[in-house]
Amino acid sequence: MMNVNAVLVAITLALLTCAPRCIYSDDQRLLVNMTLVRNASAFGAFCLDGSLPAYHLHRGFGGGARNWLLQFEGGGWCNSIKSCLDRANTRRGSTRYMSKWEVFSGILSNNASLNPDFYNWNRVKLRYCDGASFAGDAVYKNGTSLLYFRGQKIWEAIMLDLLPKGLGQARKALLSGSSAGGLSSFLHCNNFTKYLPSTASVKCLSDAGFFLDKRDISSNHTMRSFVKDVVSLHGVDKNLDENCTASSLNFPELCFFPQYAMKFITPPFFILNSAYDVYQFHHILVPPSADPQGHWNRCKLNPAACNPQQLNTLQEFRRDMIVAMGLSYKYSRRGGFFINSCFAHGQSESQDTWFAADSPRVHNRTIAEAVGDWYFSRRATKEIDCPYPCRSTTCHNLIP
Ligand SMILES: *[C@@H]1O[C@H](CO)[C@@H](O)[C@H](O)[C@H]1NC(C)=O
Ligand SMILES: *[C@@H]1O[C@H](CO)[C@@H](O)[C@H](O)[C@H]1NC(C)=O
Ligand SMILES: *[C@@H]1O[C@H](CO)[C@@H](O)[C@H](O)[C@H]1NC(C)=O
Ligand SMILES: *[C@@H]1O[C@H](CO)[C@@H](O)[C@H](O)[C@H]1NC(C)=O
Ligand SMILES: *[C@@H]1O[C@H](CO)[C@@H](O)[C@H](O)[C@H]1NC(C)=O
Ligand SMILES: *[C@@H]1O[C@H](CO)[C@@H](O)[C@H](O)[C@H]1NC(C)=O
Ligand SMILES: *[C@@H]1O[C@H](CO)[C@@H](O)[C@H](O)[C@H]1NC(C)=O
Ligand SMILES: *[C@@H]1O[C@H](CO)[C@@H](O)[C@H](O)[C@H]1NC(C)=O
Repeated sequence: MMNVNAVLVAITLALLTCAPRCIYSDDQRLLVNMTLVRNASAFGAFCLDGSLPAYHLHRGFGGGARNWLLQFEGGGWCNSIKSCLDRANTRRGSTRYMSKWEVFSGILSNNASLNPDFYNWNRVKLRYCDGASFAGDAVYKNGTSLLYFRGQKIWEAIMLDLLPKGLGQARKALLSGSSAGGLSSFLHCNNFTKYLPSTASVKCLSDAGFFLDKRDISSNHTMRSFVKDVVSLHGVDKNLDENCTASSLNFPELCFFPQYAMKFITPPFFILNSAYDVYQFHHILVPPSADPQGHWNRCKLNPAACNPQQLNTLQEFRRDMIVAMGLSYKYSRRGGFFINSCFAHGQSESQDTWFAADSPRVHNRTIAEAVGDWYFSRRATKEIDCPYPCRSTTCHNLIP
């Protein structure tokens, strides 16, 4: 554990020595102030507990002054009144409990040697406090409890707040996000372009947001039924892509899954995901309910401890992910992807995985280089790493 007093002194020193909107702690980390969206109440855009939504904005400069990167924060979902009430009392459901200063690293870094293509853009982190990937629109009240399921409204309120701050004149823009926030990128990509000038170059990126509609190892639709609960509780269905829900008839909730929603997305899209995404491994493929005896416990903690059948199951998951991305996407001129074979979940916001001397690479390219090459059309980026355990030396296996 770190010494609490030492941390406080470092933060205080930093506060005293820096310009109003940003500070550096002594280890060079960039910390960015929270902005509450004061006007959100006019739209009924509240966090689960009724607090105001928020974002963190760090201004761009130089050649990036008119470019905007928006990054949705992640953090799972809540699928029942009980789990959402619990969440409302945490940083995942209320800005009251959130850190007011966020570390901007990886894709959010302002340092050219840590983030070569986006460091001088306006970079925004959208805080996640609704529990349904910024896509719900409902309210629950029963006399004693009140919950706001207003993710869609939060998204719209933040956009309206940012437009006059320069987003409305953007030349280049990238809508990004990690985990549940990576799913938000899929859900809001089309809508995003509509707020921006028609001349702007608008693209979207999902990091660890390609959640698969796949049965678990006991053949149960664990994830599908979880998603169905999230969608109906939060009133997400009416905010899903109409053309997608029209094509999936009786199962509109399926359009929450990127594999079905993707073909309706118009802007160029980049999928960054691990083929053995540990969240998906632990919650979709092998949820605790599907392995009551705990046969997978050791394999979950350490891929080297998986037996041959377990490895087969993981390889099948990888193949399913590649198939789910779709052939048309695979051969599309504008899309890009980077599917590596690391046991991780979320690789864009941590400096180690985004861009560092020992970052994960595929064909010797880091994630930052791959995403930059795609965004600026420097070269096609369609990277799929060979299956585990080959070339695993560049991986940072980040197993919770
Ligand atoms: C942080 O932001 C708030 C609201 O945006 C502002 O009132 C406050 O002065 C800022 N604090 C610092 C230290 O920049
Ligand atoms: C806040 O919202 C109201 C109602 O939509 C609008 O008239 C007003 O211009 C907004 N103010 C700001 C500062 O965005
Ligand atoms: C940028 O990052 C490099 C590499 O970590 C570091 O040496 C340099 O001091 C950083 N520059 C600034 C302005 O923080
Ligand atoms: C409202 O819902 C909460 C959570 O489910 C429950 O604890 C409470 O008893 C309910 N109140 C009423 C009046 O039904
Ligand atoms: C974004 O989507 C919402 C919900 O469908 C809609 O009300 C809003 O008008 C859209 N924004 C734009 C600029 O089209
Ligand atoms: C649905 O598809 C039609 C025809 O391609 C298109 O005009 C419309 O904008 C699409 N709707 C949405 C919500 O993307
Ligand atoms: C599979 O799902 C059904 C229905 O939700 C449930 O009753 C059953 O316990 C589940 N089985 C396993 C092994 O999770
Ligand atoms: C990989 O890329 C680095 C620069 O990013 C370069 O120095 C190195 O030579 C490359 N290695 C190979 C095997 O191409």
